[in-house]
Amino acid sequence: MATDVITLITKDHRAVEGLFERLKNKEGDQEATVTELHALLIAHSRAEEDRVYPDIDAHHSLEEHKEIEILLDALMRAEPGTKVFDRTLDKLIKSVNRHVQEEEGKVLPNLAKSVSKKRLEDLGREFKKRRAEELDALSAQARSTSAPTRR
Ligand SMILES: [Fe+2]
Repeated sequence: MATDVITLITKDHRAVEGLFERLKNKEGDQEATVTELHALLIAHSRAEEDRVYPDIDAHHSLEEHKEIEILLDALMRAEPGTKVFDRTLDKLIKSVNRHVQEEEGKVLPNLAKSVSKKRLEDLGREFKKRRAEELDALSAQARSTSAPTRR
């Protein structure tokens, strides 16, 4: 299995887009999908910030991550099926799409050009580890603030 950081980041982007499709088409349990999306995007962003961005000049992406986090929090608080939910989801999708285009169009190709294959593999391992830690922390947090009091 490929472990280079570009493959891993791109895979996350496709997974996020899959969750957006489910939310837009109102498929399955919306709240569960939002929780999954929240965890995936936060873990992805933190792992990028801590393990990948220090290797490149990615100030702009940090700003995008902040905007995405604010919208994710708003989506977690919104009731599925309401206008607020749909509007917040639209904004989040636009914001994430911009991030994905920027990264896949510029940031990642530049990274691929500027570091060795070995470094891409090392970064991939570090990205994966940091992402897993963040996912664990988020699910522990979700358990301690358990579902009944969520809304
Ligand atoms: Fe990303």
